[in-house]
Amino acid sequence: MKLTVNEVERTFDGDKSTPLLWYVRDELGLNGTKYGCGTGLCGACTVHVDGVAVRGCLATVGDAEGAEVRTIEGLHATGDHPVQQAWREQNVPQCGFCQAGQIMQAAALLAANPNPTDQEILRGMDGNICRCGCYQRIVSAVRHASTGA
Ligand code: FES
Ligand code: FES
Repeated sequence: MKLTVNEVERTFDGDKSTPLLWYVRDELGLNGTKYGCGTGLCGACTVHVDGVAVRGCLATVGDAEGAEVRTIEGLHATGDHPVQQAWREQNVPQCGFCQAGQIMQAAALLAANPNPTDQEILRGMDGNICRCGCYQRIVSAVRHASTGA
């Protein structure tokens, strides 16, 4: 089967039930995407499949057949996606472990809704857990990156 990862076409001939997270980390070496809970509850593994934020620990490689997968490494060539810029300006990360997932979730949220209300930001980011409790800065940075900032 074929899929595209960060704009590079890939052929996969392994077990299609392999979690997408293991494929991008172990086979492609894209280890910016993190393993947290493994059960869809933390968001550390968030990647985009056809522009939609999905949990890489639950999605399988087969789910991404023919699709465009994007990981944090492919969000922007120089790390200057508006969400990444806002993250730097707001000094969001603490330990950093959850941050790739947070950024990918925020980027998908803003692609679908470029000017969200605070309630929409809270709802959109609700499934992404931060053990360091950076939530206020996360919301502030998403607001900052939105067209309404
Ligand atoms: S590792 Fe996938 S949601 Fe936690
Ligand atoms: S910055 Fe440490 S878990 Fe979020």
